[in-house]
Amino acid sequence: MAESIAEAVSRRRTFAIISHPDAGKTTLTEKLLLFGGAIQLAGEVKAKKDRIQTRSDWMKIERERGISVVTSVMTFEYNDTVFNLLDTPGHEDFADDTYRTLTAVDAAVMVIDAAKGIEPRTLKLFEVCRLRDIPIITFVNKMDRESRDPFEILDEVEQKLALDCAPVTWPIGRSKTFCGTYHLATNEVRGADTQERLTKVNDPEMASHRLPENERDAFVEETMLAIEACKPFDRKAFLEGHLTPVFFGSALRNFGVRDLIHALGDFAPPPRAQVADIRTVEATDDRMTAFVFKIQANMDPNHRDRIAFVRVCSGKLERGMKARLSRTGKQMGLTAPQFFFASQRQLADTAFAGDVVGIPNHGTLRIGDTLTEGEPLVFQGVPNFAPEILRRVRLEDAMKAKKLKEALQQMAEEGVVQLFSPEDGAPAIVGVVGALQLDVLKERLQAEYGLPVSFEMSRFSVCRWVSADNPAELDKFVTARRGDIARDLDGDPVFLAQDSFSLRYEAERYPAIKMVAIKEYHVAKAA
Ligand code: G4P
Repeated sequence: MAESIAEAVSRRRTFAIISHPDAGKTTLTEKLLLFGGAIQLAGEVKAKKDRIQTRSDWMKIERERGISVVTSVMTFEYNDTVFNLLDTPGHEDFADDTYRTLTAVDAAVMVIDAAKGIEPRTLKLFEVCRLRDIPIITFVNKMDRESRDPFEILDEVEQKLALDCAPVTWPIGRSKTFCGTYHLATNEVRGADTQERLTKVNDPEMASHRLPENERDAFVEETMLAIEACKPFDRKAFLEGHLTPVFFGSALRNFGVRDLIHALGDFAPPPRAQVADIRTVEATDDRMTAFVFKIQANMDPNHRDRIAFVRVCSGKLERGMKARLSRTGKQMGLTAPQFFFASQRQLADTAFAGDVVGIPNHGTLRIGDTLTEGEPLVFQGVPNFAPEILRRVRLEDAMKAKKLKEALQQMAEEGVVQLFSPEDGAPAIVGVVGALQLDVLKERLQAEYGLPVSFEMSRFSVCRWVSADNPAELDKFVTARRGDIARDLDGDPVFLAQDSFSLRYEAERYPAIKMVAIKEYHVAKAA
């Protein structure tokens, strides 16, 4: 019997992993897939990374600098739960990509290096999750190495993130003697993740027998303290984003990963309701809705297609169905939606809320787009961040200006860079959050379009989207400051300033003009 939408939704968990580089995100991803049954051998995630990297030239940048630029999605099924893990780029120069990906998840796993605690990038990503009320499960990794005292780590999470901690498991031993986890509420002991078996014990004393004699008393003492002094897990507080359940482990040595998969299944929420302009869409609504949070080009070098990653928000997405693209009001056929597994992709016949599918297209879909079964609704909240670096693109061959314009438009639609066209007809300005994005742009323009370019400083360094309650005020401003106004990809006006001082100055001079650094992709244009 076909599964109902409600049943399908209830067994889905869509999440991302947030961490500072080197905390162990890649290793943990690999082990989640391994114990989740999606891959046979550890090493495939890295191997896959390498394979993708060798596929296309522009990704040389990734390889040379040892960073991952690609965001992808991995699906695995464990104990009848479907897990969709959305990967995010590790390098902060691609932060906007990560932020957009976080709009498509319902929960996040925060990986902390047990020796380092909360690091800057963890903090930043955590703040993005908090803005969106995404519940967080904490995984304290690398317990097989010299680490900080677990209470100290919990304390740091509470202090730095203002988030209550509820340790669910406790590490049995540390560094060389680390040999498993002890469940503080159920008294279950889990050894290596390579075995599925859990052992039930009566108390911490029994669990301590796995340790050398000289470490047993300390273990019993600290687990008793953890049980007495720490907050118990409270699902409501977790779902509201006030409390994080904490798990200890070692992704590399296969400890604590199964605990984490179980926690994702038991605690993490099923697909959430999503806010659209005209109503809130429940995941169990029977009509299909979805939004695009990521565009990826060059997934397959044999087909110069682009894949739009869409998160299904409600209903059932079926292969061959027609969907309405809210931005244009036009219909498009979803003829070849795809699922991604650890090392392959596969046609998706049916996808439910929470699932992420890739839709091949030739530029029809853009980041932030909404697809529906006809209803003219637009999802809110896929953000666009004001770039921190603005540059003019200098073309070596001036005859190719038209080609460059097209190429830049495509790169902007993919979210590689932002593109601003000055009102006064001056050459376009590209904006990026991090300098590496410029390197990617340069490489891709050369490799895919045969356009050698360099970048020149622009006289502007800050940009803000401008709007006003009264359209006449906005017109007045745009006319008065024509030389400093540009249009973004959607045609929305942007004010370009030389520096933050002049930005403040202009903001004071024109109090009716709202100047914002984050634009949500929600404007339904031709609808
Ligand atoms: P990232 O994606 O968050 O950047 O981290 P990644 O998984 O690549 O891990 C960073 C380094 O930390 C790797 O070592 C990895 O093997 C190691 N690591 C991850 N988890 C654990 C753990 O639980 N215990 C210990 N001891 N090490 C761990 P590397 O030497 O930089 O890379 P590699 O040559 O091993 O791949």
